[in-house]
Amino acid sequence: MDELVPSAMNGVGKMPRMGANPALSDGELAGAVRYLLAVAGFPQAEPSPEALRRWRETADRRRAERSSAVP
Ligand code: HEM
Repeated sequence: MDELVPSAMNGVGKMPRMGANPALSDGELAGAVRYLLAVAGFPQAEPSPEALRRWRETADRRRAERSSAVP
């Protein structure tokens, strides 16, 4: 979840950020990732508010690092 949720927040390849639905809350997006992992056989505990904050911070930091990278 520490890797997947920030990736899904920012988008992966052609996947748009927030799963193409910017109206989703961070909690809803994390819930969708949790659902996908559960049906794939990797059930995850319900994330704490603190975990959600950490994933949002990670996503924002990675996006900032990406956009300021010197090519
Ligand atoms: C486990 C976390 C997730 C990962 C690792 C992931 C990864 C990906 C990847 C690799 C693609 C294809 C990108 C490409 O073709 O270059 C994709 C597409 C997409 N994903 Fe995700 N995804 C995740 C979760 C989600 C969730 C939770 C949603 C919706 C709430 C979502 C919505 C979408 C959409 C709308 C597309 C584009 C489909 C299309 O237009 O072809 N994804 N995702």
